[in-house]
Amino acid sequence: MNSTTPITLIGTGHLGRSILETLIKKGHQNLIATRRNQAELEKLKIEIPTLDINKDNQAAVQAADVIILTAKEYSFEDIADQIKSVKNGKLLISLGPTFTLKKLEALFGHRIIRLMMPVDPLNDLIFYTPDKQCSPEDKKTVEYIFGNHTQAIPEDQMAIATTHVLFRGLFNAFLNPLQKASTEAGMNEALTKKAISHMLISAGKEIEAGVDGMEKLKKASGGFNEESFTLKLFNDLKPSQNEFERQFKKYVRLLKRMENESSS
Ligand SMILES: NC(=O)c1ccc[n+]([C@@H]2O[C@H](COP(=O)([O-])OP(=O)(O)OC[C@H]3O[C@@H](n4cnc5c(N)ncnc54)[C@H](OP(=O)(O)O)[C@@H]3O)[C@@H](O)[C@H]2O)c1
Repeated sequence: MNSTTPITLIGTGHLGRSILETLIKKGHQNLIATRRNQAELEKLKIEIPTLDINKDNQAAVQAADVIILTAKEYSFEDIADQIKSVKNGKLLISLGPTFTLKKLEALFGHRIIRLMMPVDPLNDLIFYTPDKQCSPEDKKTVEYIFGNHTQAIPEDQMAIATTHVLFRGLFNAFLNPLQKASTEAGMNEALTKKAISHMLISAGKEIEAGVDGMEKLKKASGGFNEESFTLKLFNDLKPSQNEFERQFKKYVRLLKRMENESSS
C-alpha cells in the first residue's frame, strides 16, 4: 500500500466524502468515487479535481486494489451483483454497521474487513474485524487509510464497539449542561471550554491507567461524609448513570439482533 495504490469508494455520500478528505490530506493520489447520481459526482469532481469519478461500480472496482464500501446496507446486494465478478480477492472494507462477515462474504467473496469509524478518525480509536483471508498487510492498509489508532477486535465485539462509536458522536452534547451551567454562573466561554477539556484529558488518563475514579476521590477527600457535596451530586446523578447503562445495553442487543438477521 502506498500513496498511488488505487482505492475505490463505492457509495460516496457523507461518510465516503469524509474518508476521501482524510486520504487527500494524507497526500493519496489515486482515488475513485462512485455513486449513481452523475450530477452529484460531477460536483465532487469540481471540489476535488484529482478524483476519478465513475457511475459504473464494476469499472471502478476493476480499476482498484482496495474497495471501501460506504453505501447504505440496503444497497449492498445490488452492488454485490455488479462487482462480485471483478472483485477477485481484492480487499473490500465495509463500513456497514450490521452486516456480518458471513453475510458480506456471501455477497462479495472473501478478503473482507468490517470497520467502525468514529467522528474524529485522526484521534478516535477505529475498530475493525478482518476475515480469515486478510493478511498482516491488509491490517497495514487499514492503518494507512483510517489513521494510526486502529484496533482489531473479534467480530462478536462489533456491536459494543458500534455503541461506543454512536455515543462518541453524541458525547460532546452530553457536556452541554455543564457548559450552560458554567456560563450562567458567570464563567466565560473560553475558560469553560478549557476546564472541560482538561477534565476530559485527565479522566482519560485515569481510565487508561485503570484508576478507580470513586476510590481516588474518596482518598483525596478523606472519604465521603454526610455533608459531602460530591456524594450529594453523585446520588442526584445516579439515576441518569443507570439509564445510560440500560441504553448502552439496549443498543448492543439491537445491533446484535440486526447482525443475526443479516446472517440468517
Ligand atoms: N462504519 C462506520 O463507521 C459508519 C459511520 C457512519 C455511517 N456509517 C454507515 O455508512 C452508510 C452510509 O452513510 P452516509 O451517511 O454516508 O449515507 P449517504 O450520505 O446516503 O451515502 C450513501 C451513498 O451511497 C450512494 N449509493 C446508493 N446506492 C448506490 C449504488 N448502488 N452504487 C453506488 N452508490 C450508491 C448514494 O448516492 P446515489 O443515490 O447518488 O447513488 C449515497 O450518496 C450508512 O449505512 C451508515 O449507517 C458507518
